[in-house]
Amino acid sequence: MAPGKHRVLVVHGPNLNLLGLREPELYGDVRLETIDEGLREAGAALGCAVECRQSNSESEIIGWIHDALEGFDGIVLNPAAYTHTSVAIRDAIAGTGVPTVEVHLTNIHGREDFRRTSLTAPVCLGTIAGFGARSYGLGLRALMDYLKASEPETTQSS
Ligand code: DQA
Repeated sequence: MAPGKHRVLVVHGPNLNLLGLREPELYGDVRLETIDEGLREAGAALGCAVECRQSNSESEIIGWIHDALEGFDGIVLNPAAYTHTSVAIRDAIAGTGVPTVEVHLTNIHGREDFRRTSLTAPVCLGTIAGFGARSYGLGLRALMDYLKASEPETTQSS
């Protein structure tokens, strides 16, 4: 894909459609549509088109990761509860090789023991966790930084 024309897929996992209603003391009161809107705006400023999707289905998320090979340069992924359980999502990220940044609203390392293990993090570029809704924007910036740094040098015209 041509420099400056990056496409980023944002994938929200299970129960994130409930943001705003769901345990606001943990996840805040910002709704998913507001996060998505902010990411599209941030993407425009960073020089990428952002498409946001949410699913409660592991199989659908895996399909989207596969599809990203064709249509996207990178993924910002909050696998939600699948972070801690899904070998299949991990294998999809590793198998496609699509550059992926894992994000979490909460600091999963400071919560229950079962949340401290991420099966997906080892095959991602990196993880941003604990900054609430801002984790997504930070993840997008990290991904764009990586993608721009990976672009081939363009030859200077005089
Ligand atoms: C989460 C953390 C997960 O442990 C949890 O299952 C979620 C949300 C987060 O963004 O903090 O659904 O991924």
